[in-house]
Amino acid sequence: MQIPLSNPDITELEKKAVQEVLNTPNLSLGPKIPEFEKMAADFAGVKFAAAMSGGTAVLHTIVKALGIAKGDLVLTTPFSFVATANCLLYEDAEPIFVDIDEHTYNITPESVEQSYLALPPEKRKRVKAVIYVDVFGIPADGPGFESLSQKYGLRIIDDAAEALGSAINERRCGSFGDAGLFAFYPNKQVTTGEGGILLTNNKEIFNIAESLRNQGRDKGAGWLQHARLGYNYRMSDINAALGIAQFKRIEEMLTKRKRVWERYNHHFSHIFSRGLLHPQKTPPGSVVSPFVYVLRLSTNHTRKDRDRLLFFLKKEGIQCSNYFTPVHLQPYFKKMGWQYGDMPVAENVSERTVALPFYNNLTEKQVEYVVQKVNDFFL
Ligand SMILES: Cc1ncc(COP(=O)(O)O)c(C=O)c1O
Repeated sequence: MQIPLSNPDITELEKKAVQEVLNTPNLSLGPKIPEFEKMAADFAGVKFAAAMSGGTAVLHTIVKALGIAKGDLVLTTPFSFVATANCLLYEDAEPIFVDIDEHTYNITPESVEQSYLALPPEKRKRVKAVIYVDVFGIPADGPGFESLSQKYGLRIIDDAAEALGSAINERRCGSFGDAGLFAFYPNKQVTTGEGGILLTNNKEIFNIAESLRNQGRDKGAGWLQHARLGYNYRMSDINAALGIAQFKRIEEMLTKRKRVWERYNHHFSHIFSRGLLHPQKTPPGSVVSPFVYVLRLSTNHTRKDRDRLLFFLKKEGIQCSNYFTPVHLQPYFKKMGWQYGDMPVAENVSERTVALPFYNNLTEKQVEYVVQKVNDFFL
């Protein structure tokens, strides 16, 4: 059996929607963009949404719209995809990594506050914001980060690139703080091929981001009028049409995804009870829309054991990965002074995690095959 790590859920509806756009002259800057944005904003429960070429582009425009610039510091997680921290480097701002919770793999308002207060006063003054991630679709404490924002005047960015459909205290991830985002790479809950969307209730952030994504043009301005230095971060109408079709099937897609997640949990329960592997924990009051299925080997195992498991599964036709290598250990962050030992929990988790195949149409038989092979490894 060959099982991919991820596989987009594309039906005739998506194909027809894309074909329909191709039959019009509006391949970009057309009507599909506002239609897609309205669907995403309504889904997330925010006033404004701006579709872009990717989640990284969205993060960059949020950073710029918040005025985060050279010399500013931003507290964030080391356990994420690199884009979460890279968006700061684009503007010569600097991330300050905060270690994660060992069960949810998210940073918490408590650990962020502790790191903030531990900074020397002259450094603390330079901290402008917090970027937190709802990692693998598990909601971080959005309400807690909003309280932190009120207490210290910090701006909050909710990177929900991996958490479309997740919620905490009945509010959807991506809707917290000053601005948030979803991303639409083909392994995500909803795909547009490539793409991302900014979510906010703040009109000013929305206006600036809209301009930045479109070469610095203000809304309604002429093609050659550029109010500020901008980028081409636009999403095309072809991508947006794909996204609209996906949002039309959103309940069905999220239900399928959740079913696969529950199947895995059910079949792995005996291994969990033996303490060999641990699932990622879900905080109380949250709804999880899973992005990937990640397990962590117990602390009795080493990084070598994890790598042997990855090798074994791949040999058996099961695609899998070591999500995530901590961001602070990427070579260019190490050059900035970060080193192994700085984030012990993130490093420890990262050495033991395995992402297994996970997508909407993964069958019961395939799940059973994966679980059987993981079992065989531990025998
Ligand atoms: C947490 C997180 N933030 C940002 C991004 C960047 O999104 P994109 O790849 O669409 O640029 C990703 C992508 O996987 C992500 O997982």
